[in-house]
Amino acid sequence: MDNANLAVENSAHALGQRFVQLFGESPRIYQAPGRVNLIGEHTDYNDGFVMPAAIGLYTRASVAARLDRKLVIHSENYSERVEFDLDHLPATRSGHWSDYVIGVVKMLGRSGETLGGTNLLVDGNVPQGAGLSSSASIEVAVGYALLDSADQATDRTKLDRTEPDRTKLALLCQQAENEFVGARCGIMDQFVASYGERGKVLLLDCRSLEYRQLPLPGDVALAMCNTMVKHSIAKGEYNRRRAECETGVRVLSKYLPNAQALRDVTPDDLEAYGHELPDIVRRRCHHVIGENARVLKAAAALELGDLQAFGKLMLESHRSLRDDFEVSCPELDLMVELAEQAEGVYGTRMTGGGFGGCTIALVQNGYVEADSSGGL
Ligand code: GLA
Repeated sequence: MDNANLAVENSAHALGQRFVQLFGESPRIYQAPGRVNLIGEHTDYNDGFVMPAAIGLYTRASVAARLDRKLVIHSENYSERVEFDLDHLPATRSGHWSDYVIGVVKMLGRSGETLGGTNLLVDGNVPQGAGLSSSASIEVAVGYALLDSADQATDRTKLDRTEPDRTKLALLCQQAENEFVGARCGIMDQFVASYGERGKVLLLDCRSLEYRQLPLPGDVALAMCNTMVKHSIAKGEYNRRRAECETGVRVLSKYLPNAQALRDVTPDDLEAYGHELPDIVRRRCHHVIGENARVLKAAAALELGDLQAFGKLMLESHRSLRDDFEVSCPELDLMVELAEQAEGVYGTRMTGGGFGGCTIALVQNGYVEADSSGGL
């Protein structure tokens, strides 16, 4: 076992002991990672393509069943314990961290799962508001834990589940965020939190949910740089971008009757009919249509081992997010500019929803200082 794995193992053991201390019995522990996105930003909710990767930062949910109908959640990060009656769950979000858990509980119930009383201990090291998808990692870890608890509450002989359906769980967690937490996010984050693999990037078609795991060459590393500018996609700008894309499709579909989403619009289509769109909407569409093409080109470059080409596409992506989609910020732009000039960097860009958070850089291994805390 390498040092990184040993550290992970030790901290899981410590979490198990903490659970015993809090609830008096041993838990089962589930873990889901945060993510970076190499390319394909704001394309998921346009039925497009994305290329995220799981990172070494994660959320863990430890779980054990209770005999009553209570859901007791303890957060190590907030040093706080909250209790809910499973038969009288809050109807709407409260803005509290527990919204992420309650959203998943509700969607599991809606999908036909019977949840019994549950003790949950949640702990994570994905920084919040850094664009590394701490929310999807808590949703997916908790989703697994709650399914475990549902299994305990059900007559095991009646269960045909050996392993949870990861796609179903990812969709359900996305629904929790869309309908309960109030962010109209796409499927990327929950999908990679469910399927991400060490050392691989995930090429995902967000319409069909077909995916491929592409290996990253051994001599490159992904470096995350945090601007420390907090972002929150639950705030209005993200939902506004999504609405602008939907407006684009609505207008363009008058000329392109088969267009269901921006995924179906080509650069030539935009050239021909773009003048029908308000300028802001046209620029939003220009980003998404170009970004979808860039993801496919980047996948081809990665398979050919052409990291120079990959890096160039990352930079184009950043410029498009900055100028057309307008989701960057001065701190992200500066970090990209500085990294661009650094030796050994193939490419760099903002990653995630934007308005702050992190940049990602594809770097030749020899130029990165070893840090196993958040890497792949
Ligand atoms: C957030 C959302 C994702 C995706 C990205 C932007 O991370 O949760 O669904 O839209 O922003 O690519």
